[in-house]
Amino acid sequence: MNMIHEWNTEATALDQADELRDFRNRFYIPEKNGKQAIYLAGNSLGLQPRMAERIILEELEDWRVFGVEGHMNSRRPWYSYHKQFCEPLAELVGGLPVEVVAMNALTVNLHLMLISFYRPTPTRYKVAILGNEFPSDRYAIESQIRLHGYDPREAMIEFDDMDDDAILRSITVHADTLALVHLSAVHYYTGKFFDVETITHAAHDAGAYVGFDLAHAIGNVELNLHQWNVDYAVWCSYKYLNSGPGSVGGAFIHEKHVGNGNIPRLAGWWGTDEDTRFEMHPSFVPTYGAESWQLSNAPVFSMAAHKASLDIFREAGMKRVSAKRELLTGFAERVILDAIGNRSDIRIITPSNILRRGAQLSLELDTKGNDVYNALIDAGLVVDWRNPNVIRIAPVPLYNTFGDVAVFGEELVRAIT
Ligand SMILES: Cc1ncc(COP(=O)(O)O)c(C=O)c1O
Repeated sequence: MNMIHEWNTEATALDQADELRDFRNRFYIPEKNGKQAIYLAGNSLGLQPRMAERIILEELEDWRVFGVEGHMNSRRPWYSYHKQFCEPLAELVGGLPVEVVAMNALTVNLHLMLISFYRPTPTRYKVAILGNEFPSDRYAIESQIRLHGYDPREAMIEFDDMDDDAILRSITVHADTLALVHLSAVHYYTGKFFDVETITHAAHDAGAYVGFDLAHAIGNVELNLHQWNVDYAVWCSYKYLNSGPGSVGGAFIHEKHVGNGNIPRLAGWWGTDEDTRFEMHPSFVPTYGAESWQLSNAPVFSMAAHKASLDIFREAGMKRVSAKRELLTGFAERVILDAIGNRSDIRIITPSNILRRGAQLSLELDTKGNDVYNALIDAGLVVDWRNPNVIRIAPVPLYNTFGDVAVFGEELVRAIT
């Protein structure tokens, strides 16, 4: 039990030195067994910012007071509600404000991007994805391949090897027929952060477009999508962005595409030029920017929670969040490695290279994984289980402490002994 004592001592010192430690008070921490839970599931659903309730109530109040006139007269006019997110989201993805938009949900946005960037021809019609990509992305891509009259069994290339070099080799092999490369920037199962920049260059060299799913990346790792020359990206906001279950997602479309009228897109009235939108013209005049991919007017109540969260990110700054994440996840890695000792039936499958991972660590258990998971849950932790045999934990810099990680280590030792 000496190591548990050492973890606790180290955690106390690290928490004291943590300049972001007060941000934890901006969130509600769920309770389990009558006390604050050790919540390590922010990669699944981020916690509620305390300000979310107030901002949602303000929007309800403005609706009550103004009715339809709230579109223009409320404290944050609903007509342009989405615009307040362009700058903070641009900071988080490393893009220009004109390249990002908060809208819809992730899979809907992926379909919108596929309409624009998967434009197969008889010679170039293949899409490359990870063999173990998140199912929603796979379903979306398969259905789009069928929509264009191709057979996914022939038109979909699967990267079986998660290694970046293997992916690059596969892109080269299929260069003549590849129309699109799509993958998660951070993988939901392993927590691996792919080399987005190098993969993007390789896909472009092969003559393909390239896009990323940022569900597990945005608000977790630092991104530089504009400079990396990524064509599109899509995300949800309920994980590291703490904006609430099913809250509004977002999309990035590179500046080089946003003004290109030749790119096909599904159109709706919220994508038209806002100065003339209410003139009700029969013809669609796209507004300049990613906003022209919008279909519908803004879902204000879910965006109110989004605002509460993005305000916190702006104050904390992604650089500081990322610096703490490296320390916190590094500490969690050491604690887990100490806890499992020389056992060969349990291992961390997330890369040990800090450049190739975010907050999440995935623990693979050969046997009794479910028992270990249940023991952790019973002990008051919130972690997550992914079939067939992985426990995922994600210490989140904005609200988790090094102390949380030490408690996790202690309970892990109990659960696996
Ligand atoms: C990697 C990844 N992609 C896509 C989705 C689906 O997101 P949505 O239901 O918001 O479309 C999720 C949901 O957790 C996810 O983790």
